[in-house]
Order: sequence, then structure tokens, then C-alpha cells
Amino acid sequence: MSILITGGAGFIGSNFVLDWLDQTSESIINVDKFTYAGNVENLSALQGNPKHILIRGSIEDKALIDRLINQHSPRAIINFAAESHVDRSIHSPEDFIQTNIVGTFRLLESACSYWNNLHDSEKSKFRFLHISTDEIYGSLGKYDPPFVETNRAEPNSPYSASKASSDHLVRAWHHTYGMPVITTNCSNNYGPYQFPEKLIPLTIVNALSGKPLPIYGDGQQVRDWLFVKDHCTALVKVLEFGRIGETYNIGGWNEKANIEIVNTICNILDELHPASDGHSYKEQIIFVADRPGHDRRYAINAQKIESELNWKPKETFDSGILKTIKWYLDNPVWIQRTQSGDYRKWLNKQYGNSL
Ligand code: NAD
Ligand code: DAU
Repeated sequence: MSILITGGAGFIGSNFVLDWLDQTSESIINVDKFTYAGNVENLSALQGNPKHILIRGSIEDKALIDRLINQHSPRAIINFAAESHVDRSIHSPEDFIQTNIVGTFRLLESACSYWNNLHDSEKSKFRFLHISTDEIYGSLGKYDPPFVETNRAEPNSPYSASKASSDHLVRAWHHTYGMPVITTNCSNNYGPYQFPEKLIPLTIVNALSGKPLPIYGDGQQVRDWLFVKDHCTALVKVLEFGRIGETYNIGGWNEKANIEIVNTICNILDELHPASDGHSYKEQIIFVADRPGHDRRYAINAQKIESELNWKPKETFDSGILKTIKWYLDNPVWIQRTQSGDYRKWLNKQYGNSL
């Protein structure tokens, strides 16, 4: 048996693949376009593992996906592939429309015709699991209750609008064609292998290289943080036991303001890896112009997945952030290789040469 996943060389996808192959004997066909965010080094531990079949390709390429599905007959497809960075979506939305909307549409088309032709026993077991985000729900006020699955989609950025669109397509393929889909909407992930354009890895990497730690606006925006491995265990639960046609919110009950996150990272680094001249990393913090349309607060109510599927996160924020910082300290070569090429061009476009 096998499953096919997309975007499995990115941050969450590669953590999922590593955990899956550590915990089961079922093969994974991993299709990734290898954009700047896809990193083959995330999967280097799997070199020579016959249970990991890595293919460079796009979910927009229906002929390729059709061929792979027919060749491997997966019992499930998990769609991680996406353009995932909000700031990039503000500067260059086109790729987000192409991958997140058109790509999901093409993947659904392939999956649907494959599923339709399965024998009854395989047909009833097949699942299409779509990985989405809490950002589709829009922004919460300070005293609003956390997002529940029945909240309306009110996306505010090109990224979240493209993800909400993909969620709608997945929903429609269930209602119209009967496809056995499930969608998950998760909060902010952090952990090993996250590309250092997102707040937590950017802060760690910039701190260690003596660069500014940019905080957008007043730094009081709130996100709900979940250690990536906890997200992966939730996805396995949803895949195996989730109800068809449902959506599940996934989150860690860990609301934190951005400034608090950055201060926490600086405190831990001051202790684990003090700067050679003795300054506190906090001295590198700078406040910069706010992100256009910046959502003020996200928070997830994870009661549904907890009660229906008996899932709970293992890590607290304190234990998860310590593991994450230690991972980045232990992997300077991985960091160094993310600091060249396309990534630098993007940073220079957004910040000039100041970072
Ligand atoms: P990422 O940017 O680290 O990885 C995305 C991966 O998708 C990369 O390997 C990239 O090469 C690949 N990809 C991009 N376009 C592709 C295409 N057309 N075809 C095939 N592969 C393609 O993203 P991530 O943070 O790992 O997020 C994975 C998924 O989880 C995304 O769908 C994202 O919306 C969702 N999500 C992320 C978070 C988070 O905090 N990072 C939270 C909730 C949901
Ligand atoms: O909520 C889930 C989403 O979380 C995912 O769907 C996205 O793929 C993922 O990128 C993430 O989106 P955010 O925009 O919340 O993450 P990011 O790390 O870019 O920013 C987190 C917060 O920190 C946000 O309020 C913006 C702020 N920020 C970010 C960066 C990169 C800063 O203040 N400074 C920075 O340099």
C-alpha cells in the first residue's frame, strides 16, 4: 500500500514524510515542484529508502499526476503543496493563484477520475486530505472567541484567499461528485526545517548572524503556535479516523504576540549561545513598516479534533521552541544553504540590502 503526498519537500511535508516512514511501513510517493521552499536536504535521511519515491513535478501537471496515481494506486492523497508565505503573496500573487487554486483543481480532477474507477472496496477506503490554514477565517478581534469549523471564510491576503478558494474547490468536489475529501485548517507551525522567511526561523537565523530582527508594526499581532510534529500526528488521525466531507481545525491553544515570540527566542539564545561580544540578542530587534492588510489575531478552537479523534498536542510552547532553537543551532550547514540564490533575491527585493 502507499499514499501520495504533494509538497513533501517543504517544511510541514518533509516533517510528515520523515515521521510517517519512521512509524509505518507504508510507502510514500512524494511529488514536489522544488520551489525555493522545497529542500531536498530536508529528506536526506531517506536517501536509498525504497519506501520513499521522490518526484520533481507540479500539481498543475495533470498528465504527470495521472501517470503517478495510475502507476502506484495510492489509498490516499495528501495535498501539502502550496505557495505558503503571506509576504510573498502580497508582492507576487500570481504563483499563489496558479499553485494553490489551479494546482488544487487539477489535482482534484486527477484524484476524482482515479477514485471513480476504483473497485468498491478500495473506493470506500480512499481519502483526499487537503491541508489548509486558519488564515482562511480572517482576523479576530482581541476578545473574539477562537475560530471554529463553522466560521465563515473571510480571507484577507492573496495567500489566504487562494487557500480559501482551494478549500471551496475541495468541498465542492465532495458535494458534487461525492469525492471522499477531508480538509484541515491548522494554525501557525514551527519546528525543524522551516524556511527562514517565517517569523520564528528568521528570528533565530538573523540573531545568530548578527542581523536585525524585524518586527512588523507594533508587534502585538497574535498567532496560535503549534509544534510541527503535533500537526503531523493530527493529520495521521484525520486521515485514518476523520469523517468524510468534514473540516477539522488543528491548533495548540498557544496564543502569543509576535514581540513575545521574538523576546522568548532572544532569551533562550542568550542562554544557549551567547553573542561573542556579550550583547543581548534583543538589541538586534527593530520595528519596521507593518505588513499591508496585516491580520491582527488568529486563534484556533481545537475541540472538535480533540473530542472526535482523541488528538492533543504533545509539546507546550516552551518545550517546542526549545527543541526548535536547538535544531537550528545544530544545523548550521542547512541554514547556510538557505541563504543563497532565490531566497536572497527575494529578501533584497523586500528589504533592500538591510537584512
Ligand atoms: P512550504 O512553503 O514550506 O512548502 C511548500 C512545498 O510545496 C515546497 O516543498 C514547494 O516546493 C512545494 N510546492 C509549491 N508549489 C508546488 C506545486 N505547484 N506542485 C508541487 N509542489 C509545490 O509550506 P509549509 O509551511 O510546509 O506548508 C504546507 C501546507 O500547509 C501548505 O498548504 C500551507 O498552506 C499549509 N499550512 C501551513 C502552515 C504553517 O504555519 N507553515 C499552517 C497551516 C497550514
Ligand atoms: O496561520 C497559519 C499560517 O501561518 C500559514 O497558513 C502560513 O503558511 C504561514 O506562513 C503562517 O502565516 P503568518 O503570516 O502568520 O506567518 P509569518 O511567520 O510570516 O508571520 C508570523 C507573524 O509575524 C505575522 O504576524 C507577521 C509577523 N512577522 C513576520 C516576519 C516574517 C514579523 O513581525 N516580522 C517578520 O520578519
